[in-house]
Amino acid sequence: MLAALWILILISTSCYGLDNGLAKTPPMGWLSWERFRCNTDCVNDPENCISEKLFQTMTDLVVADGYASAGYEFINIDDCWLEKHRSHDGKLLADRQRFPNGIKALSDYIHSRGLKFGIYEDYGNFTCAGYPGIIGYEQEDAFQFAEWNVDYVKLDGCYSLPLEMDLGYSTFGKLLNSTGKPMVYSCSWPVYQIYAGIQPNFSAVKTYCNLWRNYDDIQDSWTSVENIIDYYGNNQDLIAPNAGPGHWNDPDMLIIGNFGLSYEQAKTQFAIWSILAAPLLMSVDLRTIRPQFKRILQNRKIIAVDQDPLGIQGRRIYKHKGIEIWSKPIGPLYENFYSYAIAFINRRSDGTPSDISVTLKELGLINFNGYRVEDLYENVDYGVLYPNTKIKVKVNPSGVVMLKGEVQFPN
Ligand code: GLA
Repeated sequence: MLAALWILILISTSCYGLDNGLAKTPPMGWLSWERFRCNTDCVNDPENCISEKLFQTMTDLVVADGYASAGYEFINIDDCWLEKHRSHDGKLLADRQRFPNGIKALSDYIHSRGLKFGIYEDYGNFTCAGYPGIIGYEQEDAFQFAEWNVDYVKLDGCYSLPLEMDLGYSTFGKLLNSTGKPMVYSCSWPVYQIYAGIQPNFSAVKTYCNLWRNYDDIQDSWTSVENIIDYYGNNQDLIAPNAGPGHWNDPDMLIIGNFGLSYEQAKTQFAIWSILAAPLLMSVDLRTIRPQFKRILQNRKIIAVDQDPLGIQGRRIYKHKGIEIWSKPIGPLYENFYSYAIAFINRRSDGTPSDISVTLKELGLINFNGYRVEDLYENVDYGVLYPNTKIKVKVNPSGVVMLKGEVQFPN
């Protein structure tokens, strides 16, 4: 009887998309994977293993160190939180040693600090690290997440068939919706299909998912960040139009403050991710992060570019000899003239800053009332400049200069 009821509910909602009203701007928070991986050795490495203690500590730091007030709100568990087997009655069980108080207690802890709670699962027989996946238990797991007061579900795609993902991911999105508990839904559906040589149906993906991965996992290196930047630039005609309020491309976590990026490179990752209207999910040890990296992650002017309510994903508008210009239309608008965030990046390695000279007009800033131009990292206000004004920026090797041009209204 119950099963029949669910089928009825599913059928009656099947003509609608996810439409959960969430993620009107790209989600912001902290996610364990890139920095803490699948470290389950709490005996020898109690401070860094995937455990309730790690998530509680990061929750406390997100609040105490100003990340929450800058907009970061999710504390998200990634892989390796589970026992290797479900309970005898088919329920997901958190590892009893590492999460002795269970998931609901952790969720309550995070909520009591004013933050939101995210969890990881996999549309497959196993998660990527080999823990139980959701196949065969979709309905139970969706309701389990709702019962745990989960606010965000990342559903990975290891150990499943990419051809079955159109049905699998959309069904699970509807199941999440049917619980009545709003949960942001992060999908890996396109990336697994792309790797299998299948062209994803992006209109379905953006209907059912609030965010989705298109490309490789980020690793702790500049090369990895550059590869992702190239992928999003080279494929922007296909990818960028799919982003908008409620549905975002996810180029993967921010690795700012870890081992692999210099200060300049970290600024570049943050600038490009904000141009891409990317989710801002830090994966870093907030106990030891250096102040200059923290300042990048808390740069409110750049966060505002990422979080611009228009939700337009920016594009690479110039690429030549290691110099790139990326541009994102943002508010305010005057008539049909946008304001813009512009990132100049220098992919060259010839040791000295490169000069880039360009008129506002060449950047697409053509309104005759002009634009108030400011530098978002250096906090310099250049005043109102006009389409014919030539600006010159000096960009450090593997670094960035990020400007905002705010369209002016006639007096
Ligand atoms: C995949 C995902 C990563 C991470 C790992 C966990 O590789 O793309 O983001 O979740 O699985 O095993």
